[in-house]
Amino acid sequence: MGLIGLLSSNKSVNLFLPAHGRGSALPPGLQKLLKLKPALWDLPELYEIGGPLINEGAIAESQKFFASEMGVDRCWYGVNGATGLLQSSLLALARPGQAVLMPRNIHKSCIQACLLGGIKPILFDVPFLSDRGHSYTFDKKWLQKAFQKAKELDENIVAVALVNPTYHGYSADMNSLIKEIHSYSLPVLVDEAHGAHLISGIRSDLPSSALSFGADMVVHSLHKSAPGLVQSAVLWSQGGRVDPFIIEKSIELLQTSSPSALLLASCETSLKELIGNKGKKKLISRLEEAELISEFLINNQVPLLENNDPFRIILHTSKFGLSGIDVDKKFIKQRIIGELPEPGTLTFCLGFSSHKGLGKKFVRIWNQIVQSSSPINNFSFFKRPPFNIVSKPCSATWPSAFEKVHLKESVGRVSVEMVCPYPPGIPLLVPGEILDKARVEWLLEQREIWPEQIPSFVRVIP
Ligand SMILES: Cc1ncc(COP(=O)(O)O)c(C=O)c1O
Repeated sequence: MGLIGLLSSNKSVNLFLPAHGRGSALPPGLQKLLKLKPALWDLPELYEIGGPLINEGAIAESQKFFASEMGVDRCWYGVNGATGLLQSSLLALARPGQAVLMPRNIHKSCIQACLLGGIKPILFDVPFLSDRGHSYTFDKKWLQKAFQKAKELDENIVAVALVNPTYHGYSADMNSLIKEIHSYSLPVLVDEAHGAHLISGIRSDLPSSALSFGADMVVHSLHKSAPGLVQSAVLWSQGGRVDPFIIEKSIELLQTSSPSALLLASCETSLKELIGNKGKKKLISRLEEAELISEFLINNQVPLLENNDPFRIILHTSKFGLSGIDVDKKFIKQRIIGELPEPGTLTFCLGFSSHKGLGKKFVRIWNQIVQSSSPINNFSFFKRPPFNIVSKPCSATWPSAFEKVHLKESVGRVSVEMVCPYPPGIPLLVPGEILDKARVEWLLEQREIWPEQIPSFVRVIP
């Protein structure tokens, strides 16, 4: 059919990201723009328009406006997703040879930034939910323990990066975590890629954005948790721990010199949707609809797992002995496309468009799947990854030579590559890590339940 053909057809229920639901929830201003003469909007950084790093023009005004609305010092729009702005943030936080403390469920973009900037990622393990195979949030005590262990490594830790909420919509008590990090006089970067909608503050029973707890830098993916176009993102900064000049210089290192005006307009309009009155009303009704859908599914014996984000529905497939990856394929055949298939679960993202009537169709398909599938034996328990509480991967830059070995024969070798199922983009092995026996055995087991995502070979230092 070709790419254009594929992009033009829409015959499915879209429960994946971007969250604008094939355009139906795009902000009105952007919809209007896209209905004009094709590419009329495709403009360079003209004087009146400017760009994310230019002090004058409409984009500078827009960034100033939203920073002030959010009560923070600065914000920058991004056109290379949360990925680009997270990477710039890390480069702003640490110089080559310095270390950043991060949880093991950090997004791969942060590890890649460390490789790029010669920064040492100090990774600490996080709680693990064995009934579904997910990494989970942690509390202040857990973080204190990670700090203690990290100290033993005698590295120059200059910052902490956290991710919250997680892809599945689990959220931690960020207030206490940020306070704890600040008590060590360290700045904290929060990857809030999945939590842009939290800046709306529309419901006190939902988590708040880390911005409201004084996080020094926060990154939002505006296509994942706001109704923006793919690649749109925003970075916020506040307080005196990180110099905005260094942030700008770090953004400049990675940003294209021709940022797309369309994506920048998408940043502006999606933020307006999150904090403007009309957008907030819509958001409230979408949240209510999402909660009704979950309630309907639960009342009809569909096994959902609890989280802190009504827009993320986690189907607990392994509870019925089924792999989320197989169940995903069956849903796709019935034209419901989910977001995140994993061995134990299948996560659907409702996004910002309406899904009235979804519940009945979902229940019918799920029941058909359960009736027509044979459950896998002993599939209700997932083995915790054998990560040390704090490991210190070598700050491996890409080596000039490497060897490709079978995973089975890799014990004792040092990996030069990442093993990272995508989505969710959480590395199971990072460059510079030693493949000890426990890790190799665990990776081989993961390969059995996640064969398309875990390669049988790994590249190692010769
Ligand atoms: C936790 C987390 N952070 C960052 C990103 C990167 O976001 P983007 O696709 O906007 O670059 C992702 C993408 O999956 C993610 O899950």
